[in-house]
Amino acid sequence: VLSGQELRLPASADFHVHLRDGDMMETVTKTIRKGGVDTVYVMPNLVPPVTTVEHALDYKRRLESIEPNVTFLMSLYLHESMTPQAIVNAKKAGIIGVKSYPAGVTTNSSSGVVDYTSFYPIFEAMQEQDLILNLHGEVPSKGDVTVLSAEERFLPTLFEIHQKFPRLRIVLEHCTTAAAVEAVKKCGPAVVGTITAHHLSIIVDDWVSSDMVRIFYIRLTSSQAGDPYCFCKPVAKTPADRDALLRAAVSGNPKIFFGSDSAPHPATSKRGGDKIAAGVFTQPYATQTVLDALEQACKSGVLRIEEITQEILEGFLSAFGRAFYRAENPRESITLKKQHDQIIDVLASASGDIEVVPFRRGQKTWSLTW
Ligand code: NCD
Ligand code: DOR
Ligand code: ZN
Ligand code: ZN
Repeated sequence: VLSGQELRLPASADFHVHLRDGDMMETVTKTIRKGGVDTVYVMPNLVPPVTTVEHALDYKRRLESIEPNVTFLMSLYLHESMTPQAIVNAKKAGIIGVKSYPAGVTTNSSSGVVDYTSFYPIFEAMQEQDLILNLHGEVPSKGDVTVLSAEERFLPTLFEIHQKFPRLRIVLEHCTTAAAVEAVKKCGPAVVGTITAHHLSIIVDDWVSSDMVRIFYIRLTSSQAGDPYCFCKPVAKTPADRDALLRAAVSGNPKIFFGSDSAPHPATSKRGGDKIAAGVFTQPYATQTVLDALEQACKSGVLRIEEITQEILEGFLSAFGRAFYRAENPRESITLKKQHDQIIDVLASASGDIEVVPFRRGQKTWSLTW
């Protein structure tokens, strides 16, 4: 279907979004439908993190008042203050899952997890209540672990949790390696994995700057300059890893589906200063970015255009995730036209105080209408 000029799809569902709070929330939430998405699973890493049902429900109400035509599925931040009773209450209140962040690995993760076994009573309650556990699958950089091995080194922890709680539904978020995809496939049906739009196209060279090369001793495979707007956690890895993600996305395996991990930061935190915030912003072009990446992969010979059928796209972008999350089926569809739109250079808040730069700014992409 990608060889045609026009495409009609059911609305996409995006099972991993960062919508933030305040002005940033207003700005970003209004772009969800522009990306062809009618259902989002909302990450809880606000400041302070969303650790209580009250906070999650208040956040949900505010999101709904900004964009009533999107379904917001809410999560809590796995935190030491959490009790098994809180999990029971969360289920009753309609909370869908709990996201665990390893301490110190990414944005707003300072109150994250150090030792997973200390949360086993919570996981037990979650298994009983049928709440979903969303894993940010990275171990902190320490000793011989770097951002390049952080995900693979986490996989034994995934297996341990799955073995101990075989009925607990687990999502290994934003898979970036061939090893992560294989791990998800190896586990039982309770374990699935999401793939972002940007990890279907970028590799380590796209985000590494020459300064970072010295830090990580990475040999660049092309002359491409590092782009801070391609820097996120987990970082994009090797071409072989990216190609494994592409193949997984079009494999038709219902255990693998879309979660953009769109993570907006003010442009001032992405360039200038000496620490670059992790996060790639794709929300206004969520569906389009996936299609662009698949098209590119066909051009470069990684995928064959015939294998990308209507059913494959619908599964990855909509049906598989909705089935796992037991979310509603889409009521609307979207129409996309090849090369009919151009990604904006910058998205500004109404006040003009915040500017966010999208992934692949200025490039041609599919137009999208509802
Ligand atoms: C920081 C890190 O890596 O420790 N995140 C990042 O991705 N640069 C931590 C943080 O920003 O909270
Ligand atoms: O790159 C990332 N940014 N990874 C995360 O896990 C968090 C996210 C954010 O919130 O900015
Ligand atoms: Zn994450
Ligand atoms: Zn995320």
